[in-house]
Amino acid sequence: MWSSAVSFNQEGLAIGGLTARALASEFGTPTFFIDENHFRSRAQLWADALNANFGDSAGTVYYAAKAFICTDVARWIKEIGIGIDVCTGGELAVALAGGIDPKKIELHGNNKSVAEINRAVEVGVRVIVLDSLFEIERVSSAAKKAGVRQAVMLRLTPGVQAHTHQSISTAHEDVKFGFSIASGSAWAAISEVMSHPELELRGFHTHIGSQIFGTDSFELAATRIIALMAKFKDEYSSELPELDLGGGYAIAYLPGEKTVEPHNVLPALSALVKRECKAAGLKLPLISIEPGRNIVGPTTFTLYEVGTVKDVTLEDGGIRKYVSVDGGMSENMRTSLYDAEYFATLADRTSTAPLTQSRVVGKHCETGDIVIRDIKLPADIAPGDLLATPATGAYGRSMASNYNHVPRPPVVAIKDGKARVIVRRENEADLLALDVKE
Ligand code: LLP
Repeated sequence: MWSSAVSFNQEGLAIGGLTARALASEFGTPTFFIDENHFRSRAQLWADALNANFGDSAGTVYYAAKAFICTDVARWIKEIGIGIDVCTGGELAVALAGGIDPKKIELHGNNKSVAEINRAVEVGVRVIVLDSLFEIERVSSAAKKAGVRQAVMLRLTPGVQAHTHQSISTAHEDVKFGFSIASGSAWAAISEVMSHPELELRGFHTHIGSQIFGTDSFELAATRIIALMAKFKDEYSSELPELDLGGGYAIAYLPGEKTVEPHNVLPALSALVKRECKAAGLKLPLISIEPGRNIVGPTTFTLYEVGTVKDVTLEDGGIRKYVSVDGGMSENMRTSLYDAEYFATLADRTSTAPLTQSRVVGKHCETGDIVIRDIKLPADIAPGDLLATPATGAYGRSMASNYNHVPRPPVVAIKDGKARVIVRRENEADLLALDVKE
C-alpha cells in the first residue's frame, strides 16, 4: 500500500528520510506526496514485462493520464520512454507541455469534440481510438484537412462483465463505450473505416474496467477480439497489426490486499493471446496496454491534519469516533462515489492506546463526505495529529473538485530525500479567478 520510500518509526511516518511532521510544516495539509522513483520504477516494470512477455510483439505501454497527470509527471513519462493515453484535449495539452512526442500519444474517449480531434490530428498523435460512427466521419475530415492518413483503432465492447464496481466496469453490453461485437455494430464500424482511405485501421482496442484482480475477464475479452480479428482477415485478406487491451490492473488499498504486478498477469495474457492467434491462423499483433492506477496509485499518500474528534453514540449503543480531517470528498471522491475502501495511520507519532471503531470524514457539508467509512484508530487520536492515507495516487487529485470552495491540495514529489512541489496548492485568488467581477 505504501510507496517504497516510506518508513515508520517512533516519530511516525517518513518518506525518503523526511518526516511527516516536517513535510506538513513545509507544505501544509492536506497534501499528496508522490514518490518519484517509485513511479518511475513501476512504469519501467510494465514496459519491461510487456517486452519480456511479448518479445517482438510488444507494442506500447500507454500510461493512462486520467489516473493522474501534470506537466512534471508527463516529463517523467517522456524520460522513461513509454507512451501516454489521453482522453481529452486537456490531457493532451499537459502531455505535450511535458514534452511527450505525439508519436507516443494515443487519444481515446467516447465523445471527443471536433476541436479535440482536429488538434490531435494536427499535432500528429500516433493513434486515435474511434468510439462511434460520428467519430469516424470527424476524424476522417480532420485527416483530410490536415492532408494526412490518420492511424486509428476501434474501441470494442466484448460483452465482458469485469469483477469490479459497476461505475468502473466498461465492457459489458449496456455501456456508452465503443462498438459491440455481439450486436454487429463493431462489424459495421469496420466496414465504415475501411471505406475511408485517409484512415489507417491499425486494430482493435478494449478496456474492460478498472481495479480488476485476476485475469479471467481480460482473457475472455482478448479471446473475443481475436475471433473478430480472424473474421477481419477472412473478409479483407489482410491482418490487423495491433491489439490494445487497455488498463484496469488493481492495486492494494487495504492491509492484506496485493497489488497486481505485471509478472502476475502478463504471462497468462501472453500465453492466451499466442494460443488464440495461432488457432485462428493469425500472426501475433503488437500488444499494447494502458495501466494508470497500477503505476501511480501505490506511489502516493495523502497527509491530513485532524481538526476535530467526536464520539457519536450509535443505535446499538456502540460508539463511533468521527475523526474530521482538513480535506474530504473534494480531494478523495472515491469513497463517496464507489464505496472505495482506504486505510490510514497516525503519521507523526505512535500510540499504544486501544484501537477504537472510527470513521474518517472531511470538512464538507454533507454526511456522505467520508474518506474512510470504517477503520480502527487509536482512541487517543486528537486535533493536531497527522493522518496519512496510502495508495491515493490514482483518481485522487485528478478527480478533485473545489466543492465548498475548498482549494485543491498540492502534489509534492519526493525524490532521493528531496521534496519539491509539482502542482501547487490552490489559493483564494485561484478560487476567485474565474468569477466575472463586472
Ligand atoms: N484505458 C482506458 C480506455 C480507460 O478508460 C481507463 C480508465 C484506463 C485505460 C486506465 O484504467 P486503470 O489502469 O487506471 O484502471 N475514476 C475511477 C476509475 C475510472 C477509470 C476510467 N478509465 C476510480 O477512481 O476508480
